[in-house]
Amino acid sequence: MLLFLFLIISIFSTTSADNSDQPKFDRSHETVSVVVGKRALLPCYVSIKDSSNSPFKVIWMKLNNSSILTMEDRAINGDPRISLLHAYADEWNLQIDDIDEDDAGIYQCVINTGMYKTLTLDVKVPPKIIDELTTEPYPSPIRSGSNFTIKCYAHGKPMPKIRILSYDQSDNAKIISNENEVTLYDVSRHTRRRYECIANNGYPPDVARSFQLTIQYVPELNLVFQSKTNDELTLSILFIDLNQNDIRLKCRIVMNPLDKIYWTKNNRKLINNHHIHQYVSTSTENFIISELIIKEFLHEDQGEYSCIASNSLGMNSKSIELLVAPTTTTTTTTTTTTTTMATTLTITTELLTSRMILPRRKRPKHSRTTTISQEFYRSTELLREMTITSSQAINTKYQMMTLYILLFMAAYF
Ligand SMILES: *[C@@H]1O[C@H](CO)[C@@H](O)[C@H](O)[C@H]1NC(C)=O
Ligand SMILES: *[C@@H]1O[C@H](CO)[C@@H](O)[C@H](O)[C@H]1NC(C)=O
Ligand SMILES: *[C@@H]1O[C@H](CO)[C@@H](O)[C@H](O)[C@H]1NC(C)=O
Repeated sequence: MLLFLFLIISIFSTTSADNSDQPKFDRSHETVSVVVGKRALLPCYVSIKDSSNSPFKVIWMKLNNSSILTMEDRAINGDPRISLLHAYADEWNLQIDDIDEDDAGIYQCVINTGMYKTLTLDVKVPPKIIDELTTEPYPSPIRSGSNFTIKCYAHGKPMPKIRILSYDQSDNAKIISNENEVTLYDVSRHTRRRYECIANNGYPPDVARSFQLTIQYVPELNLVFQSKTNDELTLSILFIDLNQNDIRLKCRIVMNPLDKIYWTKNNRKLINNHHIHQYVSTSTENFIISELIIKEFLHEDQGEYSCIASNSLGMNSKSIELLVAPTTTTTTTTTTTTTTMATTLTITTELLTSRMILPRRKRPKHSRTTTISQEFYRSTELLREMTITSSQAINTKYQMMTLYILLFMAAYF
Protein backbone atom coordinates (compact mmCIF):
# COMPACT_ATOMS: atom_id res chain seq x y z
CA MET A 1 0.00 0.00 0.00
CA LEU A 2 2.86 2.35 0.90
CA LEU A 3 4.76 1.47 -2.19
CA PHE A 4 1.63 2.07 -4.15
CA LEU A 5 1.33 5.56 -2.70
CA PHE A 6 4.95 6.25 -3.46
CA LEU A 7 4.41 5.20 -7.05
CA ILE A 8 1.44 7.48 -7.43
CA ILE A 9 3.48 10.39 -6.12
CA SER A 10 6.30 9.57 -8.46
CA ILE A 11 3.97 9.53 -11.41
CA PHE A 12 2.55 12.85 -10.29
CA SER A 13 5.97 14.37 -10.09
CA THR A 14 6.83 13.45 -13.64
CA THR A 15 3.57 14.74 -15.05
CA SER A 16 3.21 18.06 -13.28
CA ALA A 17 6.72 19.43 -12.89
CA ASP A 18 7.65 23.05 -13.48
CA ASN A 19 4.29 24.62 -12.97
CA SER A 20 4.83 28.07 -11.38
CA ASP A 21 1.53 27.77 -9.52
CA GLN A 22 2.74 24.64 -7.82
CA PRO A 23 4.11 24.63 -4.27
CA LYS A 24 7.90 24.74 -4.00
CA PHE A 25 10.52 23.84 -1.44
CA ASP A 26 13.02 26.30 -0.15
CA ARG A 27 15.76 23.82 -0.72
CA SER A 28 15.96 20.50 -2.41
CA HIS A 29 18.40 18.87 -0.02
CA GLU A 30 19.56 19.40 3.49
CA THR A 31 21.58 17.59 6.11
CA VAL A 32 20.63 17.72 9.75
CA SER A 33 23.08 16.60 12.44
CA VAL A 34 21.82 15.65 15.84
CA VAL A 35 23.53 14.16 18.87
CA VAL A 36 22.03 10.92 20.04
CA GLY A 37 19.39 11.42 22.74
CA LYS A 38 18.55 14.92 21.55
CA ARG A 39 15.64 16.17 19.46
CA ALA A 40 15.89 16.39 15.69
CA LEU A 41 14.02 18.92 13.66
CA LEU A 42 13.80 18.19 9.94
CA PRO A 43 12.61 21.37 8.25
CA CYS A 44 10.28 21.34 5.30
CA TYR A 45 9.17 24.74 4.10
CA VAL A 46 6.70 24.73 1.23
CA SER A 47 6.11 28.04 -0.49
CA ILE A 48 3.02 28.57 -2.58
CA LYS A 49 1.73 31.69 -4.31
CA ASP A 50 -1.89 31.10 -3.43
CA SER A 51 -2.62 28.30 -1.02
CA SER A 52 -6.40 28.61 -1.39
CA ASN A 53 -6.01 28.09 -5.08
CA SER A 54 -4.12 24.86 -4.88
CA PRO A 55 -4.66 22.82 -1.74
CA PHE A 56 -1.82 20.36 -1.24
CA LYS A 57 -0.88 17.63 1.16
CA VAL A 58 2.48 16.65 2.62
CA ILE A 59 3.79 13.35 3.84
CA TRP A 60 7.11 12.46 5.46
CA MET A 61 8.80 9.20 4.62
CA LYS A 62 11.90 7.44 5.73
CA LEU A 63 13.58 6.22 2.60
CA ASN A 64 15.50 3.35 4.01
CA ASN A 65 12.49 1.13 4.45
CA SER A 66 9.98 3.36 2.72
CA SER A 67 7.79 3.74 5.76
CA ILE A 68 5.45 6.70 5.92
CA LEU A 69 5.92 8.70 9.09
CA THR A 70 3.33 11.46 8.80
CA MET A 71 0.32 12.13 6.70
CA GLU A 72 -1.35 15.53 6.57
CA ASP A 73 -0.65 16.89 10.05
CA ARG A 74 -0.40 13.67 12.06
CA ALA A 75 2.25 11.14 12.82
CA ILE A 76 1.02 7.80 11.67
CA ASN A 77 3.71 5.23 12.18
CA GLY A 78 2.94 4.74 15.89
CA ASP A 79 6.32 5.97 17.09
CA PRO A 80 5.51 8.42 19.94
CA ARG A 81 8.79 10.24 19.37
CA ILE A 82 7.69 11.46 15.96
CA SER A 83 5.48 14.50 15.42
CA LEU A 84 4.70 16.99 12.69
CA LEU A 85 5.11 20.67 13.44
CA HIS A 86 2.62 22.45 11.26
CA ALA A 87 2.12 25.75 13.04
CA TYR A 88 2.05 27.73 9.79
CA ALA A 89 0.54 26.85 6.45
CA ASP A 90 3.92 26.64 4.78
CA GLU A 91 5.75 24.79 7.54
CA TRP A 92 5.78 20.99 7.63
CA ASN A 93 8.61 20.20 9.96
CA LEU A 94 9.26 16.74 11.21
CA GLN A 95 10.32 16.44 14.81
CA ILE A 96 11.88 13.31 16.28
CA ASP A 97 12.61 13.21 20.01
CA ASP A 98 15.26 11.16 21.76
CA ILE A 99 17.20 10.37 18.62
CA ASP A 100 18.97 7.04 18.48
CA GLU A 101 21.57 5.74 16.08
CA ASP A 102 18.97 3.87 14.03
CA ASP A 103 17.17 7.09 13.20
CA ALA A 104 20.04 8.09 10.94
CA GLY A 105 19.16 7.92 7.29
CA ILE A 106 17.43 9.67 4.46
CA TYR A 107 14.06 11.30 4.93
CA GLN A 108 11.79 12.84 2.35
CA CYS A 109 9.20 15.51 2.66
CA VAL A 110 6.82 14.76 -0.20
CA ILE A 111 4.01 16.91 -1.63
CA ASN A 112 1.12 15.21 -3.32
CA THR A 113 2.11 17.02 -6.47
CA GLY A 114 5.01 14.58 -6.55
CA MET A 115 7.72 17.05 -5.56
CA TYR A 116 9.94 16.10 -2.68
CA LYS A 117 12.74 17.37 -0.58
CA THR A 118 15.40 15.01 0.71
CA LEU A 119 16.96 15.36 4.14
CA THR A 120 19.83 13.39 5.53
CA LEU A 121 19.66 12.85 9.23
CA ASP A 122 23.14 12.44 10.56
CA VAL A 123 23.20 11.12 14.10
CA LYS A 124 26.31 11.99 16.11
CA VAL A 125 27.29 9.73 18.95
CA PRO A 126 29.60 10.97 21.72
CA PRO A 127 32.55 8.68 22.38
CA LYS A 128 32.22 5.64 24.55
CA ILE A 129 35.02 3.35 25.73
CA ILE A 130 34.80 -0.21 24.46
CA ASP A 131 35.47 -2.12 27.66
CA GLU A 132 36.31 -5.45 26.01
CA LEU A 133 39.15 -3.92 24.00
CA THR A 134 40.45 -1.50 26.60
CA THR A 135 42.95 -2.13 29.40
CA GLU A 136 41.25 -2.38 32.75
CA PRO A 137 41.80 0.45 35.26
CA TYR A 138 43.87 -1.72 37.60
CA PRO A 139 45.66 -4.32 35.51
CA SER A 140 47.30 -7.23 37.27
CA PRO A 141 50.87 -6.59 38.47
CA ILE A 142 53.59 -6.29 35.83
CA ARG A 143 56.99 -7.80 36.48
CA SER A 144 59.96 -5.55 35.89
CA GLY A 145 61.73 -6.33 32.66
CA SER A 146 58.57 -7.16 30.79
CA ASN A 147 56.68 -5.14 28.20
CA PHE A 148 53.20 -3.90 28.81
CA THR A 149 50.70 -2.60 26.28
CA ILE A 150 48.04 -0.11 27.25
CA LYS A 151 45.03 -0.40 24.98
CA CYS A 152 42.23 2.04 24.53
CA TYR A 153 39.38 1.76 22.07
CA ALA A 154 36.23 3.80 21.81
CA HIS A 155 33.32 4.02 19.48
CA GLY A 156 31.22 6.97 18.50
CA LYS A 157 30.16 8.90 15.42
CA PRO A 158 32.36 10.18 13.99
CA MET A 159 35.09 7.77 15.06
CA PRO A 160 36.72 9.21 18.20
CA LYS A 161 40.35 10.23 18.31
CA ILE A 162 42.40 8.74 21.12
CA ARG A 163 45.06 10.32 23.28
CA ILE A 164 47.03 8.37 25.85
CA LEU A 165 48.69 10.36 28.61
CA SER A 166 51.07 9.47 31.39
CA TYR A 167 51.33 11.24 34.70
CA ASP A 168 54.43 11.71 36.81
CA GLN A 169 54.59 11.80 40.61
CA SER A 170 53.59 15.46 40.63
CA ASP A 171 50.62 14.77 38.36
CA ASN A 172 52.11 16.42 35.31
CA ALA A 173 50.60 14.90 32.21
CA LYS A 174 52.36 14.11 28.97
CA ILE A 175 50.79 12.75 25.79
CA ILE A 176 52.56 9.53 24.94
CA SER A 177 50.39 8.30 22.10
CA ASN A 178 47.66 9.23 19.65
CA GLU A 179 47.09 5.62 18.78
CA ASN A 180 44.84 3.06 20.39
CA GLU A 181 47.76 1.17 21.84
CA VAL A 182 51.05 2.10 23.41
CA THR A 183 53.67 -0.34 24.63
CA LEU A 184 55.87 0.31 27.62
CA TYR A 185 59.12 -1.56 27.03
CA ASP A 186 61.26 -3.08 29.72
CA VAL A 187 59.11 -1.89 32.60
CA SER A 188 61.02 -1.03 35.78
CA ARG A 189 60.25 0.49 39.12
CA HIS A 190 60.99 3.86 37.54
CA THR A 191 58.30 3.43 34.91
CA ARG A 192 55.39 5.79 35.34
CA ARG A 193 52.37 4.24 37.01
CA ARG A 194 49.47 6.46 36.10
CA TYR A 195 48.05 6.69 32.61
CA GLU A 196 44.91 8.03 31.10
CA CYS A 197 43.21 7.60 27.79
CA ILE A 198 40.87 10.26 26.44
CA ALA A 199 38.48 9.73 23.53
CA ASN A 200 37.11 12.75 21.73
CA ASN A 201 35.11 13.18 18.54
CA GLY A 202 33.94 16.73 18.88
CA TYR A 203 30.64 15.66 20.44
CA PRO A 204 30.96 16.04 24.18
CA PRO A 205 31.33 14.68 26.67
CA ASP A 206 34.81 13.29 26.04
CA VAL A 207 35.37 10.05 27.84
CA ALA A 208 38.42 9.06 29.79
CA ARG A 209 39.75 5.92 31.38
CA SER A 210 42.52 5.93 33.98
CA PHE A 211 45.00 3.15 34.43
CA GLN A 212 47.04 2.54 37.53
CA LEU A 213 49.88 0.10 37.02
CA THR A 214 51.45 -2.04 39.69
CA ILE A 215 55.03 -2.94 38.94
CA GLN A 216 56.79 -5.74 40.73
CA TYR A 217 60.54 -5.73 41.14
CA VAL A 218 63.40 -7.24 43.08
CA PRO A 219 64.11 -5.34 46.32
CA GLU A 220 66.58 -2.49 46.06
CA LEU A 221 68.22 -1.29 49.20
CA ASN A 222 70.73 1.05 50.68
CA LEU A 223 72.41 0.70 54.04
CA VAL A 224 73.88 3.60 55.95
CA PHE A 225 75.43 4.25 59.29
CA GLN A 226 73.77 7.14 61.02
CA SER A 227 76.15 9.21 63.07
CA LYS A 228 75.31 11.07 66.25
CA THR A 229 75.11 14.23 64.18
CA ASN A 230 72.65 12.45 61.88
CA ASP A 231 75.06 12.27 58.99
CA GLU A 232 74.50 9.18 56.90
CA LEU A 233 77.55 7.31 55.77
CA THR A 234 77.62 4.52 53.24
CA LEU A 235 80.56 2.35 54.13
CA SER A 236 81.58 -1.24 53.95
CA ILE A 237 83.67 -1.08 57.09
CA LEU A 238 83.25 1.12 60.09
CA PHE A 239 85.34 1.45 63.21
CA ILE A 240 83.53 2.18 66.39
CA ASP A 241 84.83 3.14 69.78
CA LEU A 242 83.95 0.69 72.45
CA ASN A 243 81.03 1.45 74.68
CA GLN A 244 79.64 3.95 72.28
CA ASN A 245 75.92 4.11 72.72
CA ASP A 246 73.24 3.61 70.14
CA ILE A 247 75.08 2.53 67.02
CA ARG A 248 72.48 3.10 64.37
CA LEU A 249 72.26 1.35 61.00
CA LYS A 250 69.55 2.41 58.64
CA CYS A 251 68.35 0.31 55.74
CA ARG A 252 66.11 1.86 53.09
CA ILE A 253 64.25 -0.64 50.98
CA VAL A 254 62.03 -0.31 47.94
CA MET A 255 60.28 -3.47 46.88
CA ASN A 256 57.07 -4.75 45.43
CA PRO A 257 55.52 -6.95 46.53
CA LEU A 258 56.54 -6.28 50.11
CA ASP A 259 57.74 -9.45 51.74
CA LYS A 260 60.61 -10.37 54.02
CA ILE A 261 62.98 -7.85 55.59
CA TYR A 262 65.48 -8.87 58.25
CA TRP A 263 68.97 -8.27 59.62
CA THR A 264 71.79 -10.72 60.05
CA LYS A 265 75.08 -10.61 61.85
CA ASN A 266 77.72 -12.84 60.30
CA ASN A 267 74.93 -14.49 58.28
CA ARG A 268 72.88 -15.34 61.34
CA LYS A 269 69.48 -13.82 61.67
CA LEU A 270 69.37 -11.25 64.44
CA ILE A 271 66.75 -11.43 67.12
CA ASN A 272 65.75 -8.41 69.16
CA ASN A 273 66.98 -8.35 72.72
CA HIS A 274 67.93 -5.77 75.32
CA HIS A 275 71.17 -5.13 73.50
CA ILE A 276 70.20 -5.16 69.83
CA HIS A 277 67.00 -3.71 68.58
CA GLN A 278 65.66 -3.81 65.02
CA TYR A 279 62.47 -2.12 63.98
CA VAL A 280 60.67 -0.58 61.03
CA SER A 281 60.72 3.18 61.40
CA THR A 282 59.01 4.11 58.15
CA SER A 283 56.66 2.13 56.01
CA THR A 284 54.72 3.28 52.99
CA GLU A 285 53.32 1.33 50.07
CA ASN A 286 56.62 0.10 48.68
CA PHE A 287 59.16 1.89 50.76
CA ILE A 288 60.45 0.78 54.14
CA ILE A 289 63.13 1.94 56.50
CA SER A 290 64.38 -0.73 58.84
CA GLU A 291 66.74 0.35 61.58
CA LEU A 292 69.12 -1.59 63.75
CA ILE A 293 70.35 -0.17 67.02
CA ILE A 294 73.18 -1.59 69.08
CA LYS A 295 72.68 -0.09 72.52
CA GLU A 296 76.31 -0.14 73.55
CA PHE A 297 79.06 -1.32 71.27
CA LEU A 298 80.98 -4.19 72.81
CA HIS A 299 83.74 -6.38 71.56
CA GLU A 300 81.46 -9.24 70.77
CA ASP A 301 79.39 -6.94 68.60
CA GLN A 302 82.09 -6.86 65.96
CA GLY A 303 81.03 -8.53 62.77
CA GLU A 304 79.32 -8.16 59.45
CA TYR A 305 75.82 -6.76 59.66
CA SER A 306 73.49 -7.25 56.70
CA CYS A 307 70.11 -5.93 55.86
CA ILE A 308 68.26 -8.43 53.70
CA ALA A 309 65.08 -8.03 51.68
CA SER A 310 63.43 -10.67 49.57
CA ASN A 311 60.23 -11.16 47.63
CA SER A 312 58.86 -13.45 44.92
CA LEU A 313 61.10 -11.78 42.31
CA GLY A 314 64.36 -12.17 44.15
CA MET A 315 66.44 -10.99 47.06
CA ASN A 316 69.05 -8.39 47.75
CA SER A 317 71.22 -7.41 50.66
CA LYS A 318 73.66 -4.76 51.81
CA SER A 319 76.32 -5.22 54.47
CA ILE A 320 78.59 -3.26 56.71
CA GLU A 321 81.38 -4.53 58.87
CA LEU A 322 81.56 -3.06 62.34
CA LEU A 323 84.90 -3.25 64.10
CA VAL A 324 86.32 -1.82 67.26
CA ALA A 325 88.25 1.30 66.49
CA PRO A 326 92.01 1.18 67.05
CA THR A 327 92.85 4.05 69.40
CA THR A 328 96.17 5.36 70.72
CA THR A 329 95.53 3.65 74.02
CA THR A 330 94.42 0.39 72.47
CA THR A 331 97.32 -2.00 72.64
CA THR A 332 97.58 -5.71 72.94
CA THR A 333 99.65 -7.27 75.61
CA THR A 334 100.90 -10.80 75.42
CA THR A 335 98.70 -12.01 78.21
CA THR A 336 95.47 -10.19 77.66
CA THR A 337 93.55 -10.29 74.45
CA THR A 338 91.03 -7.82 75.68
CA THR A 339 91.39 -4.36 74.29
CA THR A 340 88.26 -3.15 75.92
CA MET A 341 88.47 0.47 76.85
CA ALA A 342 86.30 0.04 79.85
CA THR A 343 86.17 2.76 82.41
CA THR A 344 87.26 0.58 85.28
CA LEU A 345 90.44 1.39 87.06
CA THR A 346 91.76 -2.15 86.71
CA ILE A 347 91.88 -2.04 82.97
CA THR A 348 93.29 1.42 82.97
CA THR A 349 96.08 0.11 85.16
CA GLU A 350 96.83 -2.62 82.69
CA LEU A 351 96.86 -0.18 79.86
CA LEU A 352 98.99 2.21 81.75
CA THR A 353 101.53 -0.48 82.50
CA SER A 354 101.51 -1.83 79.02
CA ARG A 355 101.91 1.67 77.75
CA MET A 356 104.91 2.14 79.91
CA ILE A 357 106.38 -1.22 79.02
CA LEU A 358 105.42 -1.23 75.37
CA PRO A 359 105.33 2.30 74.17
CA ARG A 360 105.15 1.24 70.53
CA ARG A 361 101.66 0.94 69.29
CA LYS A 362 100.68 -2.35 67.77
CA ARG A 363 98.02 -2.82 65.17
CA PRO A 364 94.99 -4.81 66.15
CA LYS A 365 95.20 -8.45 65.25
CA HIS A 366 93.09 -8.49 62.17
CA SER A 367 93.82 -10.05 58.84
CA ARG A 368 92.23 -7.19 56.96
CA THR A 369 94.28 -4.39 58.39
CA THR A 370 95.19 -2.85 55.06
CA THR A 371 91.68 -2.92 53.71
CA ILE A 372 90.47 -1.50 56.92
CA SER A 373 92.77 1.48 56.84
CA GLN A 374 92.05 2.10 53.19
CA GLU A 375 88.35 2.05 53.84
CA PHE A 376 88.90 4.00 56.92
CA TYR A 377 90.69 6.91 55.37
CA ARG A 378 88.65 6.94 52.23
CA SER A 379 85.83 8.60 53.99
CA THR A 380 86.74 12.00 55.24
CA GLU A 381 83.38 12.32 56.86
CA LEU A 382 84.01 9.22 58.84
CA LEU A 383 87.43 10.46 59.71
CA ARG A 384 85.96 13.64 61.12
CA GLU A 385 83.43 11.65 63.07
CA MET A 386 86.05 9.29 64.35
CA THR A 387 88.44 12.06 65.31
CA ILE A 388 85.79 13.73 67.37
CA THR A 389 84.76 10.63 69.23
CA SER A 390 88.23 9.24 69.82
CA SER A 391 89.68 12.54 70.92
CA GLN A 392 86.88 12.83 73.43
CA ALA A 393 87.59 9.31 74.54
CA ILE A 394 91.29 9.98 74.79
CA ASN A 395 90.71 13.10 76.86
CA THR A 396 88.67 11.23 79.43
CA LYS A 397 91.19 8.40 79.45
CA TYR A 398 94.07 10.76 80.12
CA GLN A 399 92.14 12.45 82.86
CA MET A 400 91.60 9.08 84.47
CA MET A 401 95.21 8.11 84.05
CA THR A 402 96.33 11.31 85.71
CA LEU A 403 93.90 10.62 88.53
CA TYR A 404 95.23 7.11 88.85
CA ILE A 405 98.85 8.23 88.91
CA LEU A 406 98.02 10.67 91.68
CA LEU A 407 96.23 7.98 93.67
CA PHE A 408 99.03 5.52 93.02
CA MET A 409 101.65 7.97 94.12
CA ALA A 410 99.66 8.91 97.19
CA ALA A 411 99.35 5.26 98.18
CA TYR A 412 102.97 4.50 97.48
CA PHE A 413 104.52 7.29 99.45
C1 LIG B 1 11.21 1.01 9.04
O1 LIG B 1 11.50 2.04 9.97
C2 LIG B 1 10.60 2.17 11.02
C3 LIG B 1 10.97 3.39 11.82
O2 LIG B 1 12.36 3.52 11.95
C4 LIG B 1 10.58 0.90 11.86
O3 LIG B 1 9.69 0.98 12.91
C5 LIG B 1 10.27 -0.27 10.97
O4 LIG B 1 10.38 -1.48 11.70
C6 LIG B 1 11.15 -0.33 9.74
N1 LIG B 1 10.72 -1.38 8.84
C7 LIG B 1 11.53 -2.23 8.26
C8 LIG B 1 10.87 -3.21 7.36
O5 LIG B 1 12.74 -2.20 8.42
C1 LIG C 1 18.63 0.98 6.24
O1 LIG C 1 18.42 0.30 7.47
C2 LIG C 1 19.33 -0.76 7.70
C3 LIG C 1 18.93 -1.45 8.99
O2 LIG C 1 18.38 -0.56 9.88
C4 LIG C 1 20.74 -0.21 7.73
O3 LIG C 1 21.66 -1.27 7.93
C5 LIG C 1 21.05 0.50 6.43
O4 LIG C 1 22.33 1.10 6.52
C6 LIG C 1 20.01 1.59 6.16
N1 LIG C 1 20.27 2.17 4.87
C7 LIG C 1 20.29 3.50 4.70
C8 LIG C 1 20.55 3.95 3.30
O5 LIG C 1 20.09 4.29 5.60
C1 LIG D 1 59.73 -6.42 24.63
O1 LIG D 1 59.64 -5.96 23.32
C2 LIG D 1 60.87 -5.97 22.62
C3 LIG D 1 60.66 -5.31 21.26
O2 LIG D 1 59.54 -5.83 20.62
C4 LIG D 1 61.34 -7.40 22.49
O3 LIG D 1 62.58 -7.43 21.81
C5 LIG D 1 61.50 -8.00 23.86
O4 LIG D 1 61.84 -9.36 23.76
C6 LIG D 1 60.22 -7.86 24.64
N1 LIG D 1 60.47 -8.29 25.99
C7 LIG D 1 59.76 -9.24 26.60
C8 LIG D 1 60.15 -9.57 27.99
O5 LIG D 1 58.86 -9.82 26.03
